Amino acid sequence: MKFFIDTANLAQIKEAHDLGVLDGVTTNPSLMAKEGISGQENVINHYKAICEITDGDVSAEVIATTYDEIVAEGLELAKLHEKIVVKVPMIKDGVKAIKFFTSKGIRTNCTLIFSPGQALLAAKAGATYVSPFIGRLDDVSTDGLTLIEDIRTIFDNYGYTTEILAASVRHPMHIINCAKLGADVITAPLSAITGLLKHPLTDNGLAQFLADHAKAAGK
Ligand code: G3P
Repeated sequence: MKFFIDTANLAQIKEAHDLGVLDGVTTNPSLMAKEGISGQENVINHYKAICEITDGDVSAEVIATTYDEIVAEGLELAKLHEKIVVKVPMIKDGVKAIKFFTSKGIRTNCTLIFSPGQALLAAKAGATYVSPFIGRLDDVSTDGLTLIEDIRTIFDNYGYTTEILAASVRHPMHIINCAKLGADVITAPLSAITGLLKHPLTDNGLAQFLADHAKAAGK
C-alpha cells in the first residue's frame, strides 16, 4: 500500500519523507490556505517546493468548477512538474475534464468521492486515483470504510486500474482498516502515519532491554 501525506506543510512533508515511507503528497485548497499560501505565484512556487521534497506524486487541486476553466487550470498545473497529478472535484464538468486529461496523458485524482457510483464514473472517465473521504463519512454517522470496500469490489469486478486513494484519514486504525480492505493508497496527516509506530509494549520492552544491558555491563 502506498502512503501519501495529506498536507501542504513543507516541514511535515520532509519529516515523512525522511522516515523513508512516503510515496506522495496530496493537497487541497483548505490545506494550502492553512499554510497561508495564496496568489498564483506563491501557489506555483509551493507546489514546486513540494515536488522537490517528495519522490512521488503530488496532487494539486483545481479551483475552477466549469469544464473550460478546469481544463485550462489543470493544464497549467500539469506543466509545473512531472510529479503533479491534477486533482479534480467529482462534479459533472469535473468528470468531463478527467476524460480530457486522460486523453492527453495527464494524470488525475478525482476528489470529494462519497459514493460507489461517483467512484465508478471517475474510473470510467480514466481517473488515475479516486479519493473517497472516509473520515467525513464517519463524521455524519456513515461507515466510511464500507465505501472503500464497495469501490474495491466494483473496480476488481471490471478490472479498473484507477487506484483507490483513501482520503480524510484521521487516525492509525483508518490506515490499518484501509490496508485490510485493499485500498491502493492512503493519504493521511503525519500524526496518523507516525501513530502506527506506537505501542506501549514496544516502549516497555525496549526500556527492559536497555536496563538489562546496563545491568550486565555493570552500569
Ligand atoms: O485531502 C482531502 C481529505 O483528505 C481531507 O481530509 O480531514 O479535511 O476530511 P479532512
